[in-house]
Amino acid sequence: MTKNSLAIAAFILLASCGQDASSAGDSAAAAQSSSAETELSPAEMGRRIFSQETCATCHTVDEGGANRIGPNLFGVYGRQAGQVEGFAYTNALAQSDVIWDDASLDAFLENPQGFMRGNRMAYVGQRDAEKRAAMIAYIKTLTSDAD
Ligand code: HEC
Repeated sequence: MTKNSLAIAAFILLASCGQDASSAGDSAAAAQSSSAETELSPAEMGRRIFSQETCATCHTVDEGGANRIGPNLFGVYGRQAGQVEGFAYTNALAQSDVIWDDASLDAFLENPQGFMRGNRMAYVGQRDAEKRAAMIAYIKTLTSDAD
């Protein structure tokens, strides 16, 4: 369901609960403004960019999530590269001693092949440093002690 159809559904629900149309209108407006980019935290921006950049096509992010084309990314921040059980990494990644922190993730996401020759992550790289920073802020939240 899209955001708009959710807003419409909320409108119908509220209207049918006997609330007046103006409060339903307010909640639809609130649903709209919560998606305004200016209101978003870096991590929330990063979550969106993560799906826009198709990372989510290859990577699940939930605890215990399946490996897809790429490994599950839960808890990847702060960990050595190539540690997900059951994922067939390339030697380039499995044998690297990179720890995924701000600097290494930034370099990797800017230019995966340039940062780690021989890895097989099929992603061209993100040139916009702000977008990378937002994605990294999001990746940091993928841990059980995020909050
Ligand atoms: C086409 C599929 C694909 C896309 C798109 C993709 N990845 Fe990957 N990713 C992979 C694969 C495959 C690996 C493992 C590479 C290897 O073993 O050489 C990987 C590895 C990683 C790793 C290292 C994981 C570890 O356990 O060391 C991180 C972090 C990562 N990807 C983040 C991202 C982010 C963020 C994006 C979006 C900007 C993204 N990936 C987009 C397939 C993908």
